[in-house]
Order: sequence, then C-alpha cells, then structure tokens
Amino acid sequence: MANRNLSEIRRDFPLLTGNASLAFLDSAASSQKPQPVIDAISHYYETYNSNVHRGLYSLSEKATKAFEDARETCAEFIGAKHSHEVIFTKGTTDGINLLAQTFAGTVVNRGDEIVLTVAEHHSNIVPWQILAEKVGALIKYIPLKSDYHLDIDVAKEVISDRTKVVAFAHVSNVLGVIHPVDILVDLAQKVGAVTVIDGAQGAPHLDINVSELECDFYTVSGHKMLGPTGIGFLYGKEDWLNKLPPYQGGGDMIEEVKLEGSTWAPLPSKFEAGTPNIAGAIGLASAVSYLSDIDRSSMLSHDRTLGLQAIEGLRSLGDVKVFVDTSSKGLKNWTGVVTFAHEQIHPHDLATICAEEGVCMRAGHHCAQPLMSVLEVPATARISPYLYNNSDDIERFLVAMERAKKLFIS
Ligand SMILES: Cc1ncc(COP(=O)(O)O)c(C=O)c1O
Repeated sequence: MANRNLSEIRRDFPLLTGNASLAFLDSAASSQKPQPVIDAISHYYETYNSNVHRGLYSLSEKATKAFEDARETCAEFIGAKHSHEVIFTKGTTDGINLLAQTFAGTVVNRGDEIVLTVAEHHSNIVPWQILAEKVGALIKYIPLKSDYHLDIDVAKEVISDRTKVVAFAHVSNVLGVIHPVDILVDLAQKVGAVTVIDGAQGAPHLDINVSELECDFYTVSGHKMLGPTGIGFLYGKEDWLNKLPPYQGGGDMIEEVKLEGSTWAPLPSKFEAGTPNIAGAIGLASAVSYLSDIDRSSMLSHDRTLGLQAIEGLRSLGDVKVFVDTSSKGLKNWTGVVTFAHEQIHPHDLATICAEEGVCMRAGHHCAQPLMSVLEVPATARISPYLYNNSDDIERFLVAMERAKKLFIS
C-alpha cells in the first residue's frame, strides 16, 4: 500500500472490529464501509442537510458544493476529462439501463447487432435484451475458452460492421477475470461501435483511467467499493452524452418547461432528474478518497494471495472444482475471487455451514445464469476477498469447509 498499511485498514471498519468472530468474504456482492464514509454521511445529515442546486441559503449552498465536489472526486478517480462526464446513478444496473434505453433509435436500430460476453452479470444482459426486443436488434455473445478467458479469435468474428454496441464487464463477478479492455475497445472502434464497460467489479480493485481505456461509457457501483448503497455513477464521453436524449424527465434536468414542450439542461443535469442521492454522493466521494490513498496494485496482490490460500485449501479438501485459471497469465488477470463447486455438496449447504461458523460467503448463480450454463453447473459458491480481509478469514472459511465435508460426506 502506498500510504496505508494493510494491517491498519481493518481497524477502520466498525462492522468488522465490532464482530471479531466474523469472516466477511462477500465483498463482490457489497463491501463493508470504513468509518470516514459513515462519518461523511452522518456529518451531512447532522450539519448541512438540505436540497441541492436550488436553495439560496448557506445550508443548500454547502450541500451543493459538497455534491458537486463529489462529482469532481469521482471524475478524477477514473481519469475523466470533465466532471460533467460523470452522471450520478443508483449504481451499475441503473447506468446500463440508462444507456440501453437512450440508445433505442439513436445508436441501435432494427437489424443492428449488440455484442456482449457470456460471462456478464444479468445487469449487463437484460437491459440490452429489452432494447433488442424494442427496436428489432440482435444480440451476439463472445464465448469463453476453457481457461475462463474470453475467446478473442471468436470476438474478432462476432464484432462486425453490423455491431453498434460492445458491452462487457471489466472484471467478471464470478470468475474474477480481468477482461482485455484494450483489445475489445480496439475491435469495437475499428467498426465504429460504442463501448460500454460494466465497471461494477473493476472500479473496486483496479486503477481506472477511462481516457486511457478509450471506452465510451463506464459504469460504477458505490456499494462495492466501500461506498453507500443506492449510489454509483456512469461515465460517458461528453460528445456521446450530448447526443443522447434524456433518460427520465422531471426536476433538475430541464432548461425550460412550457406547456407546449421542454428543453434540457446541459450536462450532467440532463441525466439527473429529481432530487439526487446527496448523502450517497458525499459518502461515495469519501469512499473514493479512502481508496485513492491505497496503492491498488498492492491491494490486488493482497486479494490474490488470499484467493490463492483459499484455492490451495480447497484443493487439499478434495472433490472441489475451482473456476480459476492459476497459470501465471491467469493470475495476472485475476482479482482474487474464488468461485468453486463441490462435487457432492450443494453450494447452499456449504454457505449454510459457513454462516454457522461466522463466515459470509455467497452461493447461487451470482446473477450470471448464462455463465452457470457455460460452466455446466446450476450454482456455485464464491468467496471474494478484499482489502480488509486477512489469512485468518481464509483459515476460518477452510475450517468451515472441512466441517461441511464431515457433515455431508462421511
Ligand atoms: C459485474 C457486475 N455488474 C453489475 C452488477 C450490478 O450492480 P448493482 O447491483 O450495484 O447495480 C454487479 C453486482 O453484483 C456486478 O457484479
């Protein structure tokens, strides 16, 4: 870590320090929150709670400044050129729905193609299916190779002159694989397609620079990166955001309303109808500042080390299939998430035994049913280590696995 020592980090998380017997290993679903984030939200409600952009009194001016400063902080975090390229949303799902709805008839028309990967979260499949149905477009999928990496040879065939959108996760929530953004953006750019990156699992772990990635859009969920729930943001290139129509109508997104019709406010307000999640944006900015103080590559290697400890333990347990490519290339493109299936014990039974031992782990399809079919399993179990976890957490998880084996097999 550049500025913070990892062993100190855990102390910042009151839920973890207050529950010493808890091993929280489900951060890919939602992370824990450090004290500064909790304090930033409380401070807003306790000392300057008011609506933004409209009050002429000092409370509202202070809230407006904090809200717009939060936008600046998020823009800087992802290397956006302008803060008005950051649109506050409820999270990644909301951001992708905004795009899929505003692309209808503007970016995607009848007969056009949308390219996704088979490893997407439902949030990056269903909105596109709704769009495709609405306008009469077709969805094509980039498959996975047996090592769980995208098949780029097939991607080169699937992305064609008919492709208008290429949308993919920066990091798979199931496999923890970091997808090759540079290659996919390049393929999309060659055919003039718009690129949408689902950054729900990328932003919590990786250094993001959208200007270097050259993507058109990037979506973020605050709650997966130490921030509050119900807030995230969508980055979009200014030109694109200016071209797209508004997503929702209402207060704040207008320039002028007449009975005969209305005109839209400039960016970013055009896409932020209604009173925004002010406390959420302030909390998210605090989370972003907290993460910015941490060296992301050290954090990534910490998460991978814990993931590898878990894999080693699972393998010695026997009868476990781990969906991680542990070759050196695989490990370089992996965030440390360990998804696995026991040949004889259902993931829900594993998660139940874990819960009894104070270990929080996820079981199910992880909102990626198509990927479960590709992996030929109905469901899997998943642990997702993050910066506040340590090897004791993994040890406790492995002890719970041993107990499950004794209970269900012998
Ligand atoms: C890869 C990916 N995309 C999208 C989402 C949806 O994010 P949210 O529920 O914050 O909108 C998730 C959440 O698990 C995810 O992991």
